[in-house]
Amino acid sequence: MENFTFYSPTYFVFGKGEENKAGAMVKRFKGSRVLIHYGGGSVIRSGLLDRVKKSLESEGISYVELGGVKPNPRSGLVYEGIDLCRKEKVDFVLAVGGGSVIDSAKAIAAGTVYDGDFWDYYRTGKAIEKALPVGTVLTIAAAGSEGSGDSVITNEDGMYKRGASGEGIRPAFSILNPELTQTLPPYQTACGITDIMAHLMERYLTNTKNVVTTDRMIEGLLLAMIEEGPKAIDDPNDYDVRANIMWAGMMAHNNSCGVGRTQDWISHDIEHELSALYDCAHGAGLAVTFPAYLSHVYKHDTERLRQWAVRVWGCEDSGSDEDIIKEGINRYRTYLKRIGMPTTMGELGGKEEDIDKLAHSATCGDGRPGYLQGFVKLDENEVKEVYKKML
Ligand code: NZQ
Ligand code: ZN
Repeated sequence: MENFTFYSPTYFVFGKGEENKAGAMVKRFKGSRVLIHYGGGSVIRSGLLDRVKKSLESEGISYVELGGVKPNPRSGLVYEGIDLCRKEKVDFVLAVGGGSVIDSAKAIAAGTVYDGDFWDYYRTGKAIEKALPVGTVLTIAAAGSEGSGDSVITNEDGMYKRGASGEGIRPAFSILNPELTQTLPPYQTACGITDIMAHLMERYLTNTKNVVTTDRMIEGLLLAMIEEGPKAIDDPNDYDVRANIMWAGMMAHNNSCGVGRTQDWISHDIEHELSALYDCAHGAGLAVTFPAYLSHVYKHDTERLRQWAVRVWGCEDSGSDEDIIKEGINRYRTYLKRIGMPTTMGELGGKEEDIDKLAHSATCGDGRPGYLQGFVKLDENEVKEVYKKML
């Protein structure tokens, strides 16, 4: 295992009705003038936004609002949010929504206290050390942004989708009420589950040896998703199923499963090009990307992939590595189809003639060095091969 530091100070409040504590939590973290940030309207329709506002009012906390975050959040609204926070002297950003809203809130929080262009962080990978404090009321189990120090934004100037990270944007608190996820359409539920599994897989694909504890944590969470995923699709109102998925989403991405080991993240980089170009849901893009990517790279470490196929997908541990791994990938694809996910690029609106552009942007776009590096190193041509496997 490699040396690591792990600091994950987010205060989690989990369970039914807990959004009513939003005001008390903002107060606990010394917020007095809040930006409430939200998406395209689901939180208005569900009445959640009103409950959150009441909770702030009951603590005597004033607020301004900025809605309209789109899935795959854009830079334009971030700039608007930064201007608003400065003008209104906001000292706390409260995200009410999913990963897109939370990521946009984090970018606003960082940009408000930064002298330069907030995009510097996303273009250069420079760590975000300073930001206004961010709190979240989560409405979808998926991106894990409620517990992560990451944010992903699409720059409308060139449509580059890039991530930034830093301890400055790890949420001060996150309120997780699984009931709030019961209004999700099945497709969004499935996208979320697929993303959760992908976050676990990105960490499972490591070149570090002897990381049994985190291997077993990842396998356990993947098995939980294999068990609970179809149940959430079949009965969206099963509270306990929703609760198990919601906590897994946090565990999958606050990096407790990723410490002490190298991680991959090439599938995410390849997927981000799909959601940037076709504006598809990130989880759906991953359902198409991950099995294709695994088929391309499994030879890099057949022992690890065989272990994954046997322990996670229940493949019989006899026969050649290649056969077992291929069976594992088949079972993964079958599972994704079972929960309603696409498994080909065409289903996302993707076209073969876009492959050159996708591979170029993934490896060379916006300052990238000409390759992607993680579990393996892939140059532009190899990334093209991965996209071709999605057709
Ligand atoms: O905008 P509204 O009206 O709220 O609708 C949203 C949106 O259309 C809807 N929704 C959310 N909660 C709902 C609901 N509809 C009904 N009932 C509810 N309770 O669902 C749609 C998707 O929401 P979004 O926030 O986009 O989903 P998700 O949480 O999957 O976030 C995706 C974004 O996160 C990024 C992705 O790239 C993508 O841009 N990621 C962020 C990460 C991070 N910060 O750590 C890591 C991830 O790997 C990921 O890249
Ligand atoms: Zn993801």
